[in-house]
Amino acid sequence: MTLTDGLTGRRGLILGVANDRSIAWGIARVLSNAGARLGFTYQGERLERRVRPLAEEAGAEIITSCDVCDEKSIEQLFAEVDEKWGGLDFLVHSIAFADKEDLERDYLSTSREGFLKAHDVSAFSFTHLAREAAQRMQAGGSMITLSYLGAERAVRGYNVMGVAKASLEASVRYLAADLGPKDIRVNAISAGPIQTLAARGISGFADIFDEIEGRAALGRGVTTEEVGNAAAFLLSPLASGITGEVLYVDGGFRMMG
Ligand SMILES: NC(=O)c1ccc[n+]([C@@H]2O[C@H](COP(=O)([O-])OP(=O)(O)OC[C@H]3O[C@@H](n4cnc5c(N)ncnc54)[C@H](O)[C@@H]3O)[C@@H](O)[C@H]2O)c1
Repeated sequence: MTLTDGLTGRRGLILGVANDRSIAWGIARVLSNAGARLGFTYQGERLERRVRPLAEEAGAEIITSCDVCDEKSIEQLFAEVDEKWGGLDFLVHSIAFADKEDLERDYLSTSREGFLKAHDVSAFSFTHLAREAAQRMQAGGSMITLSYLGAERAVRGYNVMGVAKASLEASVRYLAADLGPKDIRVNAISAGPIQTLAARGISGFADIFDEIEGRAALGRGVTTEEVGNAAAFLLSPLASGITGEVLYVDGGFRMMG
């Protein structure tokens, strides 16, 4: 089976495109080229101007606003999925947020409010969306989310976002266990650092980029297209035996001593 055989005609939601540098956009392009039918969401009217033309370029069948902190908004999204498609084959969750102050000071100083916000947007939203998506999936459905090395190591500046990513990665395992009997798979991709809007908010990221060339086995960072290729594999039946995993697409950074 080829990737295109596995993805042609499959219907999936992509949450997390903000602009053409977004990891979600890299994923969407690969999926669209492989013949998948896509639905895009954008976070509020402010981002619609950037996301709508990209979604149209990818031939999107659904383009709608969704704020993952707003239950009504998620309800409306899935009502649209029911109306347009009557089912779903895959879900891409590429969303994270933490307050700027919590990414600038020590983790020790994280506020209760900042902690809860980071976990709500970056971790709980995946569980919520997975629940809604799974109800609409048949056997063979697949979901992915995006994580980062800060989930398992203390990366300076990543702070509360790393703690939220640890929660997200644990959620992947529990969701995979819950949905395995329905033959629905759940995985994460842990991407190497990429210059995106979200990455710009992490104060220590400039130093991390400087380190990649010297440390990663491939001697370079990764592109959103490379993350997209791995995502397409995990979302396709080619990965039918893989669930509950975190796949590193980081140019061989993590495994080096
Ligand atoms: N860029 C990196 O270096 C890197 C590395 C590993 C993992 N990641 C992860 O990849 C994912 C995508 O980030 P990106 O780097 O492409 O940046 P990005 O800024 O392009 O994407 C982040 C997205 O999250 C969305 N978002 C935030 N709060 C939301 C809310 N309440 N409701 C709906 N959407 C909301 C934003 O609108 C945006 O589209 C994130 O989970 C990020 O943590 C990024």
